Amino acid sequence: MIQVSDNAFDTLMASADPPLIVVTTVAEDDRAGCLVGFHAQSSITPQHYCIWLSKANHTYRVSLRAAHFAAHFLTTDDLWLAERFGTLSGEDTDKFTGIDVEADSHGVPLLRACPNRLALDRIAVLDDGSDHVCLTTRVRSAATAGDFEPLRVSGAIHLDPGHDNDERAIQP
Ligand SMILES: Cc1cc2nc3c(=O)[nH]c(=O)nc-3n(C[C@H](O)[C@H](O)[C@H](O)COP(=O)(O)O)c2cc1C
Repeated sequence: MIQVSDNAFDTLMASADPPLIVVTTVAEDDRAGCLVGFHAQSSITPQHYCIWLSKANHTYRVSLRAAHFAAHFLTTDDLWLAERFGTLSGEDTDKFTGIDVEADSHGVPLLRACPNRLALDRIAVLDDGSDHVCLTTRVRSAATAGDFEPLRVSGAIHLDPGHDNDERAIQP
């Protein structure tokens, strides 16, 4: 029998088990970044990439004023980065302090520990009234150190997000 329920939705989503990325950005001098599981390629030619940011997050608020982003693909060695960027908030912590960071030509913070990255330029922000917005971007460049084993949502499921999605500062 086919099951239609909230549980079924969770089961189907768990089966996707996406790789985790850390998205970073900057607006004026405000650097921001958070752990993201909602992301996907959205066009082949041209190469486009979508990222969904929670309206509860500091990174979302900075992203509204930002044009450039970096998506760092995490490996199974990067759980410590998932913990830092996924459980702390830039509202009260500088997540970049004490880690090896360089700025790209637009000032976007790049995590030296994560050589598998996309450099992204914002096209649009789509707000469909849900608890996340969709950031559509053009891929400016991609870099990789070769094959790697991605850290997936299932490997970080024990982490407590810095913000719950119902904490939104801006209600729809
Ligand atoms: C496994 C996992 C997946 C997450 N996926 C997303 C996501 O897709 N989009 C998002 O905006 N936040 C996501 N988060 C939550 C943020 O990374 C987290 O709330 C972070 O602390 C926000 O930091 P900020 O307030 O500095 O932006 C995820 C957290 C975890 C633990």
